[in-house]
Amino acid sequence: MLTSLTLQPIGYLRTQQEVKFKAGHQPASAEEASNELELLPGCGYEQALQDLAGVERIWLLWWFHRNSAWRPLVLPPRGPAQRRGVFATRSPHRPNPLGLSSTALLGVQGRRLLLGPCDLIDGTPVFDLKPYVPVYDAFPSARAGWIDETEAAYRNPPPFTVQLMPTAEVHATWLREIWGIDFTARLSELLARDPAPHRTRRIRRRGPDHFEISCGAWRALFIVADTHVSVLALEPAYPMKFLSRPGYEDVPDRDAQLAFLARWPTATGL
Ligand SMILES: C[S@@+](CC[C@H](N)C(=O)[O-])C[C@H]1O[C@@H](n2cnc3c(N)ncnc32)[C@H](O)[C@@H]1O
Repeated sequence: MLTSLTLQPIGYLRTQQEVKFKAGHQPASAEEASNELELLPGCGYEQALQDLAGVERIWLLWWFHRNSAWRPLVLPPRGPAQRRGVFATRSPHRPNPLGLSSTALLGVQGRRLLLGPCDLIDGTPVFDLKPYVPVYDAFPSARAGWIDETEAAYRNPPPFTVQLMPTAEVHATWLREIWGIDFTARLSELLARDPAPHRTRRIRRRGPDHFEISCGAWRALFIVADTHVSVLALEPAYPMKFLSRPGYEDVPDRDAQLAFLARWPTATGL
């Protein structure tokens, strides 16, 4: 019996999604995106890509390389705050953290594949790709247990309204206009569904009335009244002592976080 295997990536995903927060929970089909899978040179992969013309979607098999531990029970980000067996979920926290995503194949140029929306982050190692074949792979009427129930609830309008208050609006505009950083749509989408504290959604209580949600390299501070969420301010997720320390140069949005702290050293005061 084989007890361990060694696999080698065939290539790496290149995308604007540097942090997990920016990647969707599953590849979305609606929005256009340009992600690239760059296969390694010198392996004959150009030839292996032959005959993909006419294939509209492919499967990617990949590694959740930014995860370290697995858990038998996980808290899915969508749906009620209930732990599920990891094998009944698509959670990254698996004993063998293998990811499986189907994505649109928009073109092939040499060893580079141009892809549609993906739920992989930048630098993700990819082990294999295969054509997505609807007659083999699609069973649209198959039941999916608790996931069907969650998806049905998501078809209802979101129960909360979300508003960026003036300070948060100033922060968001500055981030967008000066740094091209904008996570407010995703932030609003998450809070409109459920702003309650939740480990996987990375929502925490920050005081008697205040909450914070982590949004990749950033955080948003908010309060909730009935079904209304007011986002009070945005702020960097990393404190100055980390950002300015040698060895932390690769922190996502590091320069923008430093500039933010220089401009608003005590932005939220909380
Ligand atoms: C819920 S998982 C589903 C992945 C895949 N569609 C599957 O079912 O196996 C998608 C999430 O994994 C996270 N993710 C993407 N690439 C990752 C990586 N290389 N390492 C760790 N987490 C990653 C992102 O937060 C993304 O939203």
